[in-house]
Amino acid sequence: MTTLTQLTQHRLVPVVVLQDAADASLLADALVAGGLPVAEITLRTAAAAEAIRIVADRGDVLVGAGTVLTAAQVDQAVAAGARYVVSPGTRRAVVERCAEHGVPALPGAVTATEVQAALELGLDTVKFFPAGTSGGAAAIKALAAPFGDMRFVPTGGIGPANLADYLAVPTVAAVGGSWMVPPDRVAAHDRAGLVDLISNAVAAAHPARP
Ligand code: 3PG
Repeated sequence: MTTLTQLTQHRLVPVVVLQDAADASLLADALVAGGLPVAEITLRTAAAAEAIRIVADRGDVLVGAGTVLTAAQVDQAVAAGARYVVSPGTRRAVVERCAEHGVPALPGAVTATEVQAALELGLDTVKFFPAGTSGGAAAIKALAAPFGDMRFVPTGGIGPANLADYLAVPTVAAVGGSWMVPPDRVAAHDRAGLVDLISNAVAAAHPARP
């Protein structure tokens, strides 16, 4: 199974912003306990690379890097143990460096032109970011007409109230967001609160599971 298939099978991608790498283990514990062993750790903080390393070394969480903007950051993320690379937009240099490393790229695309450009780069799955302000689930449905084979991972402005709208769209492979792992809960070491948010999201994404 490809890494991207493993990722999308979970149907949810928790987007993590960690200020302190020392919180990485607590976060990973909560994700595993909540039934969602997946983390996109964004390269927005100085702690990110070390946090990716800590989570990757555990071996029980499918960890990737988010907010990857340059080829050099792809190198940094992969060296730290990132198994996939997420970007807010699509840049050829980032996608090509991911291919050189053999890790999947999940770059952002929200317009027909951007989706077409992603197809030209050989991608079959893109992040749809920022989802809420780019037309939401209705826009993804509309893009499916010309781009029926493209899969989307909407992220940005999604939470418990609108998660189902996105998951109901056939071309949505998974939904990303920070609502499952709010930075303030992580910083407060609120493990129980995190497990609650994560397991609620998992229950909403997999209603058939017992
Ligand atoms: C991202 O980087 O994908 C977004 O910041 C996550 O968006 P959200 O905080 O609205 O979930």
